[in-house]
Amino acid sequence: MLSTVSMMMRPSCSSTATTPLPGRPIPGSYGLPLIGPLKDRLDYFWFQGPETFFRSRMATHKSTVFRTNMPPTFPFFVGVNPRVVALLDCSSFSALFDPSLVDKRNVLVGDYMPSLAFTGNTRVVVYLDPSEPAHSRVKSFCLDLLKSSAKVWVSEFLRNLDVMLASIESDVAKNGSAGFFMPLQKCIFSFLANSLIGADPSASPDVGELGFVLLDKWLALQLLPTIKVGVIPQPLEELLLHSFPFPFFLVSGAYRKLYDFVEKSGQEVIQRAEKDYRLKKEEAIHNILFVLGFNAFGGFSVFLPSLITTIGADKTGLQEKLREEVRRVMQSRGESVMSFQAAREMELVRSTVYEVLRLQPPVPLQFGRARTEFELKSHECSYRVEKGELLCGYQPLAMRDPLVFDRPEDFVPDRFLGSAGRELLNYLFWSNGPETGTPTTANKQCAAKDYVVETACLLVAEIFNRYDEFVSDESMNVTKLVKK
Ligand code: HEM
Repeated sequence: MLSTVSMMMRPSCSSTATTPLPGRPIPGSYGLPLIGPLKDRLDYFWFQGPETFFRSRMATHKSTVFRTNMPPTFPFFVGVNPRVVALLDCSSFSALFDPSLVDKRNVLVGDYMPSLAFTGNTRVVVYLDPSEPAHSRVKSFCLDLLKSSAKVWVSEFLRNLDVMLASIESDVAKNGSAGFFMPLQKCIFSFLANSLIGADPSASPDVGELGFVLLDKWLALQLLPTIKVGVIPQPLEELLLHSFPFPFFLVSGAYRKLYDFVEKSGQEVIQRAEKDYRLKKEEAIHNILFVLGFNAFGGFSVFLPSLITTIGADKTGLQEKLREEVRRVMQSRGESVMSFQAAREMELVRSTVYEVLRLQPPVPLQFGRARTEFELKSHECSYRVEKGELLCGYQPLAMRDPLVFDRPEDFVPDRFLGSAGRELLNYLFWSNGPETGTPTTANKQCAAKDYVVETACLLVAEIFNRYDEFVSDESMNVTKLVKK
């Protein structure tokens, strides 16, 4: 673990740090029109993959800040500009959290924005900049939604987790192993719908038991052009999945069912949005659906599998330590049912959750457009950014910044323990802001930042409260379960 002294010597991670740094022009170029973007796109999706794409350019330019093209590029569609300034260290990355420096309007996934038809022609909260009055109204509503769901959040999560684990147990008993992704997605959707809007999707004729599949389709069509999929061979993936934006009509039926479900079952929250936050009814429903389906369901569907897989496949003795901590806390509290309060006392569980968020940030890319010309600071240099340039932070590398994290490439579950560990939380950025920050209407930090960490802790704690052994593999299969 890091000493306090070495922590104090760490470079400042503030983009407004006052230490004068040598100036340097931003290295890198965009290449020839059409050819430069195409070459970068093929490198990103095919020849190199995202991580090598950024790493190799960082090495070539000897800089954590450089210019590059960022897919998607749609050769037959005008209007998407792939030119970005990449940010790969904690210092320059943090410029993205400063609303005075960057505008977050419409840049959730870069210059490309899926058709507004996917959100009922409403610019939902993630696409709004804090300078737009609607951002404040909708984000306040989201924060309120979370606060009012807090009463049932834990019980709903545990109830749905129980169903999921029962199904996995029965499959492992029957077949020797069980895929956990589908049961997990079902659990996440049901728990979120029940706690955020007070409605059970499986009881709805519109949505039913497989409601989460409707969300998967809607999410996939919006995001496919931006992600390396790897399920069909290249060059088919490039031609079929990355060359054009997908039209909404392919999922309009699924979206309509989800919309009707929220409209019918979420009347109380919709009325609150209308009355207390002056949202129009349709605006409220599209925002609820987006926050539930894209932010919450999408975020957990990426994060929880990586958490389960990392812990389930660990062979370093971490499982024993986690189990010991979980059972010790439960015993000292004299409780058998898991709670947020109990999970909060489990420091190794929490540090492990943070470490998975550091190494595998669920939302790997963040964007922001320079509001004005300004000096961008990495740890070593200062770069002039022009007004209107798009900044693109790639979190998996910023979170392995060797000037901030010792053994940056290693999974160190106890990294965030103690006072030095707590200090490091200033540099944990998964929520689009430091872990020590607070989501407000003036910033773009994830509204559910604390709920996400607490829920993940609850999941790990519940697994080790129940099982003596829990083994899973990289393909999201549980291969061994031994009950307490
Ligand atoms: C593991 C789960 C989650 C992850 C990884 C995640 C991550 C993020 C990230 C990275 C952003 C910033 C996007 C950007 O502007 O670049 C964000 C924004 C947001 N998230 Fe989350 N999120 C998760 C769960 C949730 C949940 C459960 C909710 C609410 C129920 C939520 C509500 C929001 C909202 C409302 C915003 C927009 C904030 C704003 O516009 O100011 N998120 N989230």
